[in-house]
Amino acid sequence: MVPWREAMDSALYGAGGFFVRHAPADHFRTSATASPLFATAIATLVARVDAALDRPDQLDVVDVGAGRGELLLGLAATLPNEVRERARFVAVERAERPDDLPEWVEWRGDPPREITGMLLATEWLDNVPLNVAEADDTGEPRQVLVDARTGAETLGGAMAPEDAAWLKRWWPLTDPGARAEVGATRDTAWVNAVRTVRRGVALAVDYGHVAQARPVGGTLAGYRDGRQVSPVPDGARDLTAHVAFDAAAAAGEQAAGAASQLLDQRSALRSLGVIGARPSLELASEDPRRYVRELASATQAAELIDRHGLGGHYWLVQPVRVAVPLG
Ligand SMILES: C[S@@+](CC[C@H](N)C(=O)[O-])C[C@H]1O[C@@H](n2cnc3c(N)ncnc32)[C@H](O)[C@@H]1O
Repeated sequence: MVPWREAMDSALYGAGGFFVRHAPADHFRTSATASPLFATAIATLVARVDAALDRPDQLDVVDVGAGRGELLLGLAATLPNEVRERARFVAVERAERPDDLPEWVEWRGDPPREITGMLLATEWLDNVPLNVAEADDTGEPRQVLVDARTGAETLGGAMAPEDAAWLKRWWPLTDPGARAEVGATRDTAWVNAVRTVRRGVALAVDYGHVAQARPVGGTLAGYRDGRQVSPVPDGARDLTAHVAFDAAAAAGEQAAGAASQLLDQRSALRSLGVIGARPSLELASEDPRRYVRELASATQAAELIDRHGLGGHYWLVQPVRVAVPLG
C-alpha cells in the first residue's frame, strides 16, 4: 500500500503508465479536442496577449500537458498570419513526440524558461498526482494508502506537514469519514509554470471547485474508453481529481505578484466570441450549405459553453507584467 500521490504518479507517468502509452483523445473528450472553436477562441486571446506585449519578435505559445499537440495545431491554423509568423509553438509533454507532428512544433519535457507570450494548460492540473486525505474516527486527517493492483484502500499515518497545512487552509476535514484531495502538489506545479513566464499570460482550464462548494467525499475518478471507471492506479486508466482553483489562484498570484481572474468557461468563451447562436431558418432556404455549416458550429459552441458540462470548467487567467482582462 502506498500514498495516492506515488500510486498516481507511477500509474500515469511511470514505465508503461497510462499517459505514456495512450493519447488522451482516445479515451475522453476535452475542450481542446471537442471542437476547433476552442482553438479559435484561444487564438483570439493569444492575439490580445501579443498586442499587449507590443508584438514581440518572438511570441512564445507554450502548451503544458499538450496531449498530442492538438491545441497547438488548431492555434496555428487560426492565428492571423502576422502573429503566426512570429510564434514559437512549444508542446510540453511526458509522452513521446508523435511521429506525424510538424517539425515547427517543439516538443519538450519541461517548459522553456523566460516565456514571452502565453502558457496554456488545458486539463493538465487535474492529472498532477496528489495525496488523498480522510478524517479518522476522531476527526483527524490521515493519509489514504492504496493498493496499485486492486485499488483497495486503508488509512495510513498523519498527513505530511505541507499537506496538513494545505488541508487546514483550503479544505478542512473534521467529520469522521470525510475525504479530500490535497492540492498542494497542483499549486506547486502551477507556481512553477507561472514562474516560467517572464511577460505574458498563463492560462489553466480545468474542472474544479472553490471553498464555497467543495465536493463532499472528493472527486478522484478513473476514465477509460470514454467511460468513468473506478480509480484503480493500475496504469490502465486515466486518474483525475477536480482542481481546487481558489488555492491554485492564490499560489499563482503570489508567484506572479499580480491579481488573477477566475471565471467559468461559458463566460470566458462568450467574451472571446463563442456564442452558440443558431442560424436563422430563412438561411436554410436561402443558402442551405451555409445553414448546415453554421448549425454544426452552433452545436459545437453549445457543447463548449454548456454550464453543466465543459462550460462549467474554470479558466484561471494569470497575467505576468502585462494586463489582458477577459470577460
Ligand atoms: C487530460 S490530458 C490533456 C491533453 C490536452 N491538453 C487536452 O486538453 O486535450 C493531460 C496531459 O498532460 C500530460 N502531463 C501531465 N503532467 C505533465 C507534466 N508534468 N509535464 C508535461 N505533460 C504532462 C499528460 O501526459 C497528458 O497528455
